[in-house]
Amino acid sequence: MIDEELTKRAKMVSEAIDELLPVVHPGGLYEASRHLVDAGGKRLRPSMLLMAAEAVGGDPSALAPAAVSIELVHNFTLIHDDIMDNAALRRGRPSVHTLWGTSGAILAGDTLYSKAFQILGITPSEPSKLLASMDVLSKTCTAICEGQWLDIEFEDRSRVSEAEYMEMIEKKTGVLYGASASMGAILAGASNEVADALDLFGRLTGMGFQIQDDVLDLTAPENVLGKRRGGDIMEGKKTLIMIHAMDHGVAVEAFGKKDATPQEIEKALSALEKSGSIEYARNRAVELVENGKRALDILPQTPIKALLLGLADYMVRRKY
Ligand code: IPE
Ligand code: IPE
Ligand code: MG
Ligand code: MG
Ligand code: MG
Repeated sequence: MIDEELTKRAKMVSEAIDELLPVVHPGGLYEASRHLVDAGGKRLRPSMLLMAAEAVGGDPSALAPAAVSIELVHNFTLIHDDIMDNAALRRGRPSVHTLWGTSGAILAGDTLYSKAFQILGITPSEPSKLLASMDVLSKTCTAICEGQWLDIEFEDRSRVSEAEYMEMIEKKTGVLYGASASMGAILAGASNEVADALDLFGRLTGMGFQIQDDVLDLTAPENVLGKRRGGDIMEGKKTLIMIHAMDHGVAVEAFGKKDATPQEIEKALSALEKSGSIEYARNRAVELVENGKRALDILPQTPIKALLLGLADYMVRRKY
């Protein structure tokens, strides 16, 4: 059921993007900006925004621009993230910087980033609600930069604690899910208390989502994930899996080896499975999602609340 509901919303978001992000002069910039957007993606964050609005009793049909703004911010972070992570593959396509170079990708990302705020501004809503949403989204973007900074800084650190990792993923990934859910609530006219609960729901489930992303980076086939397998190992990322492995003295030879072969990644996977590091990460992801779901206790039992709970489960159950 959740799959169908997500597909429905993803389609609505993609259609709205088509309308709101036309290719104008200079065409190259807009083609580069749309390359990743048009490659698809799960559209989970805008779907969460639309579901949150509905769960608090609002009409999500007017919120397409707000949903698009969240997806554009997400795509902007992905374009810049692929530069930082030396990732050549995204959504099964060459990443933006491999096609348009670093300068082109920086500009494509910046275009999506600025367009996101303009598009949020045309959401038909009361000025006070729009202003509150802008405040949430702008603070969220700053937090994502903080999280991404920590992610990169940790690559050069010999050890990172689990608490430091949790702060990093809350900022780089959790906050955008928090913003999605709380902006949906704010624009639908929910109280501050309810909007805060939805923020917590998104934040915690978003952290679980990131841990699942770390697990999939190692375990999912490239043609399913649409991203390079083992990229986190090669880049020396301090994922929860690696933190657990280091804490248990597990040797992972390919760690930080930029030219590791698929065989070496396979070997790393075996070692991390054997040490229980992957299972440990999976369990922590489920725990975060369960905690996130509890934040929704404030909402009445409705079918749309059940859908949000289903989305939360999907975030750590997903295979890509
Ligand atoms: C990938 O996000 C980036 C992370 C924060 C882990 P998604 O897995 O939601 O990417 P798309 O949008 O579906 O491609
Ligand atoms: C991405 O984390 C977080 C942001 C884009 C802010 P990752 O670097 O793990 O995302 P993927 O795996 O490249 O999608
Ligand atoms: Mg990254
Ligand atoms: Mg990355
Ligand atoms: Mg990843």
